[in-house]
Parts: sequence; C-alpha cells; structure tokens
Amino acid sequence: MTDRALGRQQAHAALDFFEDQHPPAGDFLRDALDGFAATPKRVPPVYFYDAKGSGLFDQITDLEEYYVTRTELSILDSIMPELAERAGPGAVVVEPGSGSSVKIRKLLDGLDNPAGYLGLDISKTHLINAVADLAESYADVSVGAVCADFTGGLNIDHLPLPEGRRVIFFPGSTVGNFEPDAARNLLKGFRNGMRSGDAVLIGADRVKDEARLVAAYDDAEGVTAQFNLNLINRINRELDGTIDAGALKHLAIWNSEKSRIEMHLEAKRDMRFAISGEHFEMKKGERIHTENSHKFTLASFSTLAESAGFTVTKTWSDAENLFTLFWLEPCWEA
Ligand code: AVJ
Repeated sequence: MTDRALGRQQAHAALDFFEDQHPPAGDFLRDALDGFAATPKRVPPVYFYDAKGSGLFDQITDLEEYYVTRTELSILDSIMPELAERAGPGAVVVEPGSGSSVKIRKLLDGLDNPAGYLGLDISKTHLINAVADLAESYADVSVGAVCADFTGGLNIDHLPLPEGRRVIFFPGSTVGNFEPDAARNLLKGFRNGMRSGDAVLIGADRVKDEARLVAAYDDAEGVTAQFNLNLINRINRELDGTIDAGALKHLAIWNSEKSRIEMHLEAKRDMRFAISGEHFEMKKGERIHTENSHKFTLASFSTLAESAGFTVTKTWSDAENLFTLFWLEPCWEA
C-alpha cells in the first residue's frame, strides 16, 4: 500500500463511522458544454474548488478587502460563551459541507462537552481528510462522516449519532451562493428531521455599501480574479479547452434588484475556442456568469428562514453590521 493510501485508511479508522451515500459525481464536461451553449453563458460555481481553487479561496479569506471570514470568526469568538449555554452540554454538531477547520474548531472548543460531530460533504477525499483531523484532536467527541449531497436534504436519521441537541452549523454565508428558491429548499432540507430543541447556526453576509461589497470580490491584488479565471484554466486542462484566459476580464458587479454580487468573465475581444472538440464563440463584451453571492438584511434573511419552517430566535452581528450569525429553531405551529 502506498503511504498515501495507508494514511487514508488510518484516517478512516479514526472515525466512529463513515457512510458513503454515493452522491452522483458532478459532470464537469456536461455542465461546461451546457453552460457555454446557454445565453448568457454560465459555469456553476461548484467547479471553482479544485485543489488550486480551494487554495485561492483560502488566500481570499486573508485579503484585507474580504471582510467576510474574519468578521464571522470574530463574532463567533465573542458569542461563544452564550452559544455554549444555548447549545447546552452534550450537543451534537452537524456540519453540511465540512469546510473551514478554524470555524468548527472554535465551535467544538467553545461548546460545553460536545458529544458528537458529523461532517457531510460531496467530496469524499476532502471530507475524510477534514474529519479525520478532527477525530484525532477531539478524542472525547464521537466523530462521523457522510459523503453525500446535502442540497437534497440531510439523510442522517439512521446514523449512530450520540443523543443530544443537534446544532446544524452552516457558516460562511454559503447560503448566499444559492438562488432564493434553492436556498429555501436547502433550509427545508435541514429542517426535515429536526427534533424539538435542535437548532441551526447559520452565517449570512449583509447588504452594505456597494463599494465595499464590490471590493470584497474585486481585490487590488487580483486574487479573486485568479480564482474566477481558474475555472477557465480548469476547463483548458481537464476538458481539452482552448480558451485564451488572457482575453477574459474578471468582473464583480452589484445587482441591487437581486441583492447579490455577481462574478462574470468578460471577453476583451471577439473570441473563438473549443471545449472537448465543441466550438464556441464570444463577442467582445460578452460575459460568462460564474457566481452569485446573495447579501441579506436581517429582515430578508428572517423571511427566508421563516419560509423554510424556522423561527429566528437570536441574531448576533459585528459592530458594523457587516455579517450576522442566526440561531434558527424549527417552528412547530401549522
Ligand atoms: C464561499 C460562497 C461564501 O460568496 O463570498 C469569495 C465565495 N467568491 N470570493 C462568497 C467567493 C469570491 C464565497 N463563499
């Protein structure tokens, strides 16, 4: 066995349980061909996150302009004692999209003797690595993992989770990547199967000054531009693409009607290229839409949560109201 495979097996063994729900693998080629054939052209943002893209995203979270991660972490720090009290002893943290180890560690460190942690992610490799590290650090916590597509609901009722209040943790304003209907369905999927006492702790980025929002997605160093263009480099590498990335310009635009930052790539000149033998063209000024990042007010996020069957029982924001953490409980009235 290779060192790597051995490492994986040991990582695996450190978990209390692992279940593979075999989520259908995203079909990059299909999605890219469909997206480039559409008007306007588009590529789904899930494809940002290969190894290179995930590294660039980590760099984004350190940028001066990208206040999101830093602000959420500072809110988490300041409310941890109160969160520990709310969650009570022996809570079970459920994390759809096992992501930032810094955030989850803050939560597990701050809670009162958490009994369990369950990570869910569509990428098996990413999931096992992330969760095995937690299992190693938190010997007293029962740590499990499920490889699944959590956008279709959390299928976790049959798992050997410890008893105790479940806290579904969904930080980062990832909810903002979903269109309103999809965001509601995502939250409904969390809501399904929740019991009395369970809660969702979810982060949402706030509507704010347009210049500040745009700068967060169009930083001076051009890291976000590289992150956006990595999609094109990926298509060229993995899908036999011939797109001149240098002829595309990164754009971050505030769409006030839809309350979201949009990322696009705009053709600086007329372009012709192929993806896996299929031919496409772009006129100068034509755009490829690559991401939406919805921004919320306290009211708009509360309306969204309520439409998915939740009551907002508590909100915590930073002093500038850049970002808010919401504590949602299932609403039991008809
Ligand atoms: C990881 C989806 C929360 O929308 O702010 C950062 C992704 N895109 N810069 C966001 C992202 C460009 C980020 N989320």
